[in-house]
Amino acid sequence: MTAAMNDTADTADTAMTVAIDGPAAAGKGTLSRLIADAYGFHHLDTGLTYRATAKALLDRGLPLDDEAVAETVARQVELAGLDRDILSAHAIGEAASKIAVMPAVRRALVEAQRAFAVRKPGTVLDGRDIGTVVCPAAPVKLYVTASPQVRARRRYDEIVAKGQAADYETIFADVKTRDERDMGRADSPLKPAADAHLLDTSEMSIEAAFQAARAFIDAALK
Ligand code: CDP
Repeated sequence: MTAAMNDTADTADTAMTVAIDGPAAAGKGTLSRLIADAYGFHHLDTGLTYRATAKALLDRGLPLDDEAVAETVARQVELAGLDRDILSAHAIGEAASKIAVMPAVRRALVEAQRAFAVRKPGTVLDGRDIGTVVCPAAPVKLYVTASPQVRARRRYDEIVAKGQAADYETIFADVKTRDERDMGRADSPLKPAADAHLLDTSEMSIEAAFQAARAFIDAALK
């Protein structure tokens, strides 16, 4: 880690940041947007930074296993232009989780994410390593999860709602593969920070999860 990154990390740690982590399709995106709207905070879906890097590599026909090339592309990602609709393709998600194991790619994207985290009046960042690595001193950390079955069902419903064809068993297998890759990697594996509040949304509505999150945030703001 460079001295410049340490400086950025220290500044990020003093801002009002809500750090939200969790596995694929746990509901953290919806929850993050609700929180950002309610408090007037800036929101960054950090998964999109990995997806944008992956898409740029795929579009240019560049290899997904060359760390130096992937790092160069990661450093060119503009946070302002990230759009989940453009980056939602399944192949982009798969490629994103492959390049997300590369430490040089993570360093580049984490640097940009920390710079975002200090924006006023506050920020919500969601991803896999926000509470553990990106903003370890965030005053509010949430770990949003749900059973693999519930998450696969949500993904399935999302795709069907867009009028596209979906196969539940394939999606369920994908969710499990992605979990294994995200939780099993050496650099910044997905896991709850020691001081994260756990929100299991398997049987909790998004509204109930939002109310629980509000109580934690309001307590931290006092
Ligand atoms: O498909 P889903 O919406 O669940 O994933 P995403 O949030 O778009 O992230 C795509 C991939 O990027 C994940 O599977 C992770 O491997 C990686 N990622 C990460 O490593 N760290 C983050 N903070 C966010 C995403």
